[in-house]
Amino acid sequence: MSPFASPPIQKIDSKVALAKDVELYVLRLDLVHPLISGNKWYKLKYNLEAAKRENLDTILTFGGAYSNHIYATAAAGNLFGLKTIGVIRGEETLPLNPTLEFATSQGMQLVYVDRQTYKQRNSETLRKDLLDRFGKVFIIPEGGCNLDGVRGCREIISQDIEFDVACIACGTGTTLAGVALSLNTQQHLIGFPVLKGGDFLKQDIEGLMAPYQHNINVSWELICNYHFGGYAKVNDELLRFAREFEMECGVPLDYVYTAKMFYGVMDLVKEGYFDKRRVLLIHTGGLQGNVIRDTQGCLFHKSNV
Ligand SMILES: Cc1ncc(COP(=O)(O)O)c(C=O)c1O
Repeated sequence: MSPFASPPIQKIDSKVALAKDVELYVLRLDLVHPLISGNKWYKLKYNLEAAKRENLDTILTFGGAYSNHIYATAAAGNLFGLKTIGVIRGEETLPLNPTLEFATSQGMQLVYVDRQTYKQRNSETLRKDLLDRFGKVFIIPEGGCNLDGVRGCREIISQDIEFDVACIACGTGTTLAGVALSLNTQQHLIGFPVLKGGDFLKQDIEGLMAPYQHNINVSWELICNYHFGGYAKVNDELLRFAREFEMECGVPLDYVYTAKMFYGVMDLVKEGYFDKRRVLLIHTGGLQGNVIRDTQGCLFHKSNV
């Protein structure tokens, strides 16, 4: 039996949406597995299969100290009997934060590299160095951003879900690329980059889709003005929105990805962007990494506050 549940769909009763004749639904990928939740399993699935096919028993991947991808890869390795190595950006800080503490508890070996080296994470030189150092390992890029990642994300939306527009938060755009490839010609997809200046993602996403896109015309766009200052940046308005949304609608949001996308969607609902449409918000998980900043800009894990 697969340890993964199929994601439930939750209807959102919102007065604002009702007034605009908009139907809102959330696809709760955050509930597919307690440890490998959100978009993570979809991005890892075919990568792990490829590792097994190549008879490699160790996965090496990259991430920041609060990375959802590191967390999920560690758990998936443990679940499927693969060793895992996490190459972490920056210096080791002790005690480990809850994300890295969890990763080591799942058997992941952590290797720290300085930020300059980390920037080379997709280069052939670093790849060769890592293979020299760790032997035969299967390397998955940061965030599961590769064609096998896209392939898995084509399975996020099942054919029987009815909607006009789907909305998703974007980091690398891998998940958006996969979801876009699974749409029918009547449907539209909107990506909300969580990085500042997210327009650059358009080219990356087109590159990720191209090998799978055989004359399919996919309707998608990026809306780039809900980044709240950049990756992992938050302000009081966003935190308040996430708290109130959870209280009113019973859907917890993470501050790095889904809160920004949900905020953007609710704002656009008010502006009349979705009038008379059925909108599907894809909840891509990330709750393990919920951190908030104090007034000095320091990050705290939600469970410690
Ligand atoms: C919770 C969450 N949502 C959304 C994303 C964005 O996914 P992608 O990098 O495929 O755009 C990520 C990053 O992987 C994530 O951790």
